[in-house]
Amino acid sequence: MWQVQLHKINYDEREYQAVREVLDSGWLTMSQKTSDFEAAFSVFLEHDKKDASLGCLAVSSCTAALHMALLALDIKKGDEVITPALTFIAAQNVVEMAGAENVLADISSMDDWSVDPDDIETRITPKTKAVMIVHYAGFACDMERITALCKKHNLFLIEDCAHSPGADYAFCYGKQNHSDSQRQSLGTFGDAAAFSFFANKNIITGEGGMVVTRNAELLSKLKGLRSHGMTVPSFDRFKGRAVSYDVNSPGLNYRIHEMGSALGLVQLQKLEEANKKRKKLVEHYYKRLDGLAEISIPYRHFSRGTPSYHIMPVLLSGSIDRTRVIEAMKQDGVQTSIHYPAIQGFNAYKNKVNTTPKAEYVCAHELTLPLYPDMTEEEINIVCDSLARAVGSEE
Ligand SMILES: Cc1ncc(COP(=O)(O)O)c(C=O)c1O
Repeated sequence: MWQVQLHKINYDEREYQAVREVLDSGWLTMSQKTSDFEAAFSVFLEHDKKDASLGCLAVSSCTAALHMALLALDIKKGDEVITPALTFIAAQNVVEMAGAENVLADISSMDDWSVDPDDIETRITPKTKAVMIVHYAGFACDMERITALCKKHNLFLIEDCAHSPGADYAFCYGKQNHSDSQRQSLGTFGDAAAFSFFANKNIITGEGGMVVTRNAELLSKLKGLRSHGMTVPSFDRFKGRAVSYDVNSPGLNYRIHEMGSALGLVQLQKLEEANKKRKKLVEHYYKRLDGLAEISIPYRHFSRGTPSYHIMPVLLSGSIDRTRVIEAMKQDGVQTSIHYPAIQGFNAYKNKVNTTPKAEYVCAHELTLPLYPDMTEEEINIVCDSLARAVGSEE
């Protein structure tokens, strides 16, 4: 149906083979592939350091990971959590599900769509327990300022890394040529971080996620939450290593299955190359869209680190009818999307959350263009020609 679709899976024979191996093994849920995936993810986030101490638990989704993080940090009724105003609704939903209250933090500017540290600080009350941030589109938030303010106010920090596997933060940003020691992977700053492996993400397993922490006590709570609070995993009983189990505290079933972990292992190996391809494609987009009237591009001169280029967002000028643009591009066979509708506009959240004028403006005028690792420059040209026609800026 589409001449250029929004995203495309980059699977090849390796993913098929990995799933076949699991199917042939006769055991389909959390076992060897899952622990291999978790170990590899930890080493990857620690930039290949052999003594990786980062705890990574593969789970059923990023939403599960965020929910588990809140529960493990004992966020509950009476608490407030500061969440990003420009993000997917999973963030606000898990805060609600934990019984706590959302307080939205605005973005920094029309160029920097990351959560504004100044706005976070103004939203802190005696009830605030945690700050949740999102590295929108794979561009790092200002981690030096955010970690400092969480420390100052004694708040937990949760990183939503759904968009940012493989992205890092560069300390002393603004300077050229950061050495490796000045870089740190996103997902390693907070008390906990959550990654998504949903069907349109940089690592794709269909459904799946990873919860990450350096805190051993938190890791142990998260393990319990993932699988009914059971002290012995089912696989150990299947293998005859244990007969029964105890339950130390209540838990959920947020387990990943082995096919997902097998896919994740292959996808993780491909990630660096795939993110490099995304970068090259985004640079081609910049070449084509810079100077196009009616459009501006966020993070155009980004200097806080290496992004993962999860999506290609643009901002249409206020006079442009976005619905008409989406429809015109659809007629050209170009699929687009919106990241994201305003939280304040959803029925469940109307009159329940504070206003955030900058994020709400972006929510009303943002348009997401197609981007995936195996996209071609010719496909980008088709998208840009279609967009230029749709906004009436055809050269
Ligand atoms: C920023 C963000 N957070 C959380 C999620 C939820 O991820 P999942 O579908 O793995 O639960 C998504 C998914 O689209 C997302 O984009």
